[in-house]
Amino acid sequence: MKQIEISDKFTNKFLSDSSLHEIEPEIQQAYQTLVSHSGAGNDFLGWIDLPVDVASQLSRIQAEIDRLKNDIDTFVVIGIGGSYLGARAVIEALSSADAKRNAPRILYAGNTISEDYYWDLLQQLDNSNYAVAVISKSGTTTEPAIAFRIVKDHAERKYGKAEAARRIIAITDAKKGALHDIAQQQGYSSYIIPDNVGGRFSVFTPVGLIPIAMAGHSIEELLQGARDMRERCLKSDSVVENPALRYAALRNLLYRQQRPVEMLVSFEPRLRYISEWWKQLFGESEGKDGKGILPHSLCYTTDLHSMGQYVQDGQRILFETFLHVEESNHRVDIPHDEQDLDGLSYLEKKSLTEINHQAEQGTIMAHNAGGVPVIQITLPTVNAYYIGQLLYLFELACGVSGYTLNVNPFDQPGVEAYKRNMFQLLGKPGYNK
Ligand code: PA5
Repeated sequence: MKQIEISDKFTNKFLSDSSLHEIEPEIQQAYQTLVSHSGAGNDFLGWIDLPVDVASQLSRIQAEIDRLKNDIDTFVVIGIGGSYLGARAVIEALSSADAKRNAPRILYAGNTISEDYYWDLLQQLDNSNYAVAVISKSGTTTEPAIAFRIVKDHAERKYGKAEAARRIIAITDAKKGALHDIAQQQGYSSYIIPDNVGGRFSVFTPVGLIPIAMAGHSIEELLQGARDMRERCLKSDSVVENPALRYAALRNLLYRQQRPVEMLVSFEPRLRYISEWWKQLFGESEGKDGKGILPHSLCYTTDLHSMGQYVQDGQRILFETFLHVEESNHRVDIPHDEQDLDGLSYLEKKSLTEINHQAEQGTIMAHNAGGVPVIQITLPTVNAYYIGQLLYLFELACGVSGYTLNVNPFDQPGVEAYKRNMFQLLGKPGYNK
């Protein structure tokens, strides 16, 4: 079976022949620190074994989905950051691959405080038959807490308290937090986010698995992909054989060449939320102590017509990482047109994927010529199995890359600053102006 591969073909021009070997000892040391649990944040490494450890929970998750899915047409997922992006990334990536699935639509809440957003959501819920997953590790994050209060109130008015409680699933800490307490008191079906798994590393816990399964996608295949990538990554500490180490090595080499910005690029719009998840993973893990590669993302060819100019000709501070997808899931032909007034008949015999690939190849050549190195990650196709592989690869690379940068990749102290100010401004008890 084909595997995800990382190519340095389009970084070669920018790196000396020996550079991968020169950085390898540092990468290996960071990797050892990670897998031996001896570095900073080592109490948050439960994610390394999650694809294996979570197996015992799958039958309960499936029973939960079966209990609700035939009664509802809509599933509301409430959460923010790591309690939201992994599920959305997988669901959006797979929505076209599994086009025939019979599953409720997914609506998201708790990732904004926009009043108009909630007004729209409530209009939709008036006309939906829905259930809810409320997800918060701390159980106290303001955005999902506000959303849950609004949605819970709507559900209790629509269905009555007891039936609303039957339709609510809480995913939170085992022992503490407001959400934990509400769930206990109201008797919601509850799932635990393990203490040793941080939010942005929690996609393979019920945080990601329940919404993904409810959306009709195979969490078994997703986890199989993650397990296979885990096995591959734990087998070797060579930057040639281990794709996570290869990726961590390449991005750190480019960072050291005064390229502090990494653009994750795809020619598949449905991977857009994979990029959003990746941005949080790397941004929150590495951006500290005045260090870190700034993660940014673009979707081509769309963004070639907005940001392409900057990438080609702007400040030479960036490198790109292309998510190259070899095979699409579906086929759409370019129709024959006798008159050929648009001059497109030369493309008639090509598939859209062939055309998209040539656009991708042309872009890499142009950006390389313009001074932008490109790391290429090849996915054989977009399905649950390869998305599972990709997410695990990024998680492991992130841990290794963070230790290579000499930061603690598993905390996020900077996220608290805005909260303190917001609470003061809002007059939250205990936060004096
Ligand atoms: O990665 C993280 O820890 C954060 O992004 C959190 O996931 C995010 O802040 C949401 O926190 P919580 O799940 O506690 O509501």
